[in-house]
Amino acid sequence: MAAAPPPPPPRSCSAAGRDALAAGGCAPLNVKCRGGLYSGSTVKRFPVPDDHVAWGAAFPEYAPKEYTAPAVLAGPVWADPQHTEGWGGRPPKFNELDGKIDRRSHMGRYKVVDGLSRNPIGRTGIKGRGLLGRWGPNHAADPIVTRWKRVGGVVEKKDGKPILQFVAIKRKDNNEWAIPGGMVDAGEKVSLTLRREFGEEALNSLQLSGADRKHLQEQINKLFSAGEMVYKGYVDDPRNTDNAWMETVAVTFHDENGENVGRLPFQAGDDAVGVKWVDAHSAIKLYASHTLFLQKTAELRHAHW
Ligand code: BGC
Repeated sequence: MAAAPPPPPPRSCSAAGRDALAAGGCAPLNVKCRGGLYSGSTVKRFPVPDDHVAWGAAFPEYAPKEYTAPAVLAGPVWADPQHTEGWGGRPPKFNELDGKIDRRSHMGRYKVVDGLSRNPIGRTGIKGRGLLGRWGPNHAADPIVTRWKRVGGVVEKKDGKPILQFVAIKRKDNNEWAIPGGMVDAGEKVSLTLRREFGEEALNSLQLSGADRKHLQEQINKLFSAGEMVYKGYVDDPRNTDNAWMETVAVTFHDENGENVGRLPFQAGDDAVGVKWVDAHSAIKLYASHTLFLQKTAELRHAHW
């Protein structure tokens, strides 16, 4: 009989990541935003070994390239001006609420080095903003909508624990399954972002007729009136750079008896090309740090994982 494979090594955890988590656990140490080519470009990230991610580790040969995607440099409303162009006369007020733009991090104060915000977790092998609009934190929100898996009305169990299902979307940008989250608009409350993104991405509310849309909105409002936060902080997102990174607030909304969202007709829309109920379990692979958020949700509900 073949020997059992060795258990995976424990996930590394930075002090900053540990401190920032509301629900225990640790933030991943720049795994998805390190090595290889930067998403959607031909720019190679400077190779950073695990033990050189932390800024405190001496790394004199570190010489990352600077890259900001043309779509960001074009100056859409969601993007900051370029530093090399005198910030367009409006240098960002880092670590502050800068007008409507929230430049504060969930991880505490981040450093500003040579006038630029510095990734609080560590090196990523690339400078600039890449695909991200903001220097410093780029804020998102993720709604984790769940129900129990039922077969013929009976909750299905595995290893004595009920199986949780969550609403997953297939992202258009990279075809990965993900939680239907999105960016917090300038000046927008996170509670609104959660509701809006779920409506836009999972329910394709944009294409519903007036009456259907109103009915669905009422159902979402009811469900979204009681959420529980499972994660708040830095996200190991493939778009992160040394100067710009993703942060999120992940909140779970549970339909205990499956009579609210459990019945909703899913349809792909907006940024999503697919949407469905998916069983939650430890082997699931999701975009960025979404598996971690799902694990926290399964723990909270005492569900199978
Ligand atoms: C996504 C969120 C995700 C965040 C960080 C956003 O673009 O919509 O679901 O958590 O990026 O990866």
